[in-house]
Amino acid sequence: MARAPMALAVLLAALLAGAAQAKNVVKFCKCTCGQNSTIIELTRFALSHLPHASEPIDVDTLMPNVCMNCTRLLCGVAEPQLCDGAATGDEIVPLCSQRDSLQDELIVCGFLLLVAGLLAWTAVRGHVKPVAERLWAQYGYAGIAQHEAD
Ligand SMILES: *[C@@H]1O[C@H](CO)[C@@H](O)[C@H](O)[C@H]1NC(C)=O
Ligand SMILES: *[C@@H]1O[C@H](CO)[C@@H](O)[C@H](O)[C@H]1NC(C)=O
Repeated sequence: MARAPMALAVLLAALLAGAAQAKNVVKFCKCTCGQNSTIIELTRFALSHLPHASEPIDVDTLMPNVCMNCTRLLCGVAEPQLCDGAATGDEIVPLCSQRDSLQDELIVCGFLLLVAGLLAWTAVRGHVKPVAERLWAQYGYAGIAQHEAD
């Protein structure tokens, strides 16, 4: 009986750790020019291995908040042909995004709520059970007896 809450507490801690890790998300820079668009992963590795880059990107100059580096300049270096064939007047529009979707957050929250609920239920059950059993003994059997007599 004392083991179940323990196991649940460990599970909860593991889930919290997982949720904290899910917060450490990869950010992306979406560069759009007219009909063309490309998505650049804003990690040091991806930025130093860009397939079409016109010049090497100095990953040591990236801002701590890497979205600040999702600029027209970065898009232009990473994908020099992005605006080729685009209508005149079309220009590069950078947009920073990250991978953790609302769906992921909902799943994590749902899990945490479920575990918290189980934990609460396990804690409460020990107190509820004797009461429920007493009530059942007092009224439950009488109710059934009544019912069967009908
Ligand atoms: C990132 O942004 C900073 C500040 O604007 C700039 O100095 C740096 O060169 C940028 N780095 C890259 C790789 O674009
Ligand atoms: C952008 O689109 C044009 C045609 O609309 C195409 O010729 C060009 O190669 C595209 N550039 C990229 C980077 O996809």
